[in-house]
Amino acid sequence: MKHGQPRKKRKVKFVLFVLVVLAAIVGFTGWYKLFREEPQPDWVTATPDMRFKYGSLGGEYDSGIPYWIFYVLPRMFPEKFPGAGGYASFGIVWEQGQELPVGFTKKVIGFPRVANNCASCHTTTYRKTVNENPTVVVAGPNHTLNLEGFFRLLVDCAKDPRFTPDNLMREIALVTDLSWLDRALYRYAIIPLTRKRLLEREQQFAWVYRKDFPEWGRGRDDAFNLTKYFMIKSPMDNSIGPTDMPSVWNLKKYKPEQGMLMNLAGDSHDAHSVIIDSALGLLGAKPHNKEDFLGQVAWLEKYLGEIQAPKYPFAVDPAKVKTGAAVFDKNCARCHASDRTGKRIPIEEVATDRERLDTWSKAAAVESNKVVRNFGIERKGLVEMEPSGYLAAFLDGIWLRAPYLHNGSVPTLRDLLKPVSQRPKVFYRGYDLYDPVNVGFIAQGPEAERAGSKFDVNQRASSNKGHEYGVNLPNPDKDALLEYLKTL
Ligand code: HEC
Ligand code: HEC
Repeated sequence: MKHGQPRKKRKVKFVLFVLVVLAAIVGFTGWYKLFREEPQPDWVTATPDMRFKYGSLGGEYDSGIPYWIFYVLPRMFPEKFPGAGGYASFGIVWEQGQELPVGFTKKVIGFPRVANNCASCHTTTYRKTVNENPTVVVAGPNHTLNLEGFFRLLVDCAKDPRFTPDNLMREIALVTDLSWLDRALYRYAIIPLTRKRLLEREQQFAWVYRKDFPEWGRGRDDAFNLTKYFMIKSPMDNSIGPTDMPSVWNLKKYKPEQGMLMNLAGDSHDAHSVIIDSALGLLGAKPHNKEDFLGQVAWLEKYLGEIQAPKYPFAVDPAKVKTGAAVFDKNCARCHASDRTGKRIPIEEVATDRERLDTWSKAAAVESNKVVRNFGIERKGLVEMEPSGYLAAFLDGIWLRAPYLHNGSVPTLRDLLKPVSQRPKVFYRGYDLYDPVNVGFIAQGPEAERAGSKFDVNQRASSNKGHEYGVNLPNPDKDALLEYLKTL
């Protein structure tokens, strides 16, 4: 009796102690299984090119897909893919022997997750002949990617009644042995949460599902609408402006101190700002670790600043190149190699399709700049002026940047040198076989139709009008000019 109280107290203390230990174990396990961050394997950062293609920028935190879900979707929903070959049928670049496509990163944050980096849109492929393997070019414009289709795929899978823990776990068990704890986490936390997050995307990106808008098609992305709806959560308007993926090599050619701007309509001040904004888009949220984020941005800026466009892979005729250079100097240099280069040419002057301009505004720039500033990130940022024209483009590596113009409405350089009335009205984008005669990709015929997406210049945001420079040159001059353009 005498010792009764203290003993009871001791017992309570002991139980409390056990509870605290248990809570700590559960807490640690929960943290370990859901949030511990592991570095990517060494091969990812072994070379700068590998890092660009497969290195994580941190997107796994807020916009990643659990690896095993990503893995089984093609097996569970084959009918939602545009063709055989799973993800590759979206025109994603896939190198032989790699577990994931280019631009897809794998990183353990608690559990392995898949996210995207810049290379998904800014790495491209071409073939010189039908029978060779594609050549992969980092920092080139991905002209084969059906981004809109890929975007919708994930949401469509999440909406499907078959997207249930039972079904997914059954498929996952066929390809890997998860521990009972991992199985429980997948079943009760990871799968339901992934489904919820994917369904939220549908509301945030409602305009991507609009039936009254034409498809972006392969190699195009409505980047400024994405920015507008993601960064500042604008209410949906009626604008649409899918553009070609641009090349991002040799960014040092842009000299902001000389008044040059970036992005197709001169929407941004400098590479530093564009890279920050692009990376924020991939993260889909405020960076988890600001220092780490800015370190990645600095690395990208240096890498993309220096990397050069690849050389034209076929023979060129030096005499013709010389003649062509003179034709260029007379007809093209005043915009493409002068103090107008990298600056806005008024839309009234270049007279190409204007819809991309109308997706953006001074107000949107002001608001977006505020959002980034509130993340505590300093940059010169988006240009706080109304859009007024397209940049006179630098033409380095132009041979690999087909189709042409900001909206990709002209399949080859030869077509661009024709009056609008003679440019193709319907063609196919996204076939990777190179056409050295017309300088661009093969865009007509059964193979182009099979691999590509149909482009109709009469659809919204897709007109091939304007930029009628050099269209009245005699044919030998055009041939020489084309030969010269191959060498840029
Ligand atoms: C989903 C596809 C996609 C991803 C991912 C992406 N970009 Fe882009 N990027 C685009 C498109 C499309 C444009 C052109 C937008 C416009 O001006 O209309 C662009 C423009 C740019 C430009 C401007 C090029 C110029 O010459 O003005 C740079 C630089 C750039 N991106 C770098 C990056 C970097 C770095 C990343 C990764 C942090 C990245 N992008 C991620 C699609 C993408
Ligand atoms: C008055 C200025 C001006 C002149 C002259 C001019 N261009 Fe352009 N060029 C532009 C502008 C502006 C764009 C972007 C237009 C757009 O995308 O809507 C452009 C785009 C291009 C593109 C497409 C770039 C891409 O990535 O798709 C090519 C190729 C091109 N020009 C070649 C030429 C050639 C060749 C000549 C001479 C025969 C020429 N340009 C003359 C202003 C000019």
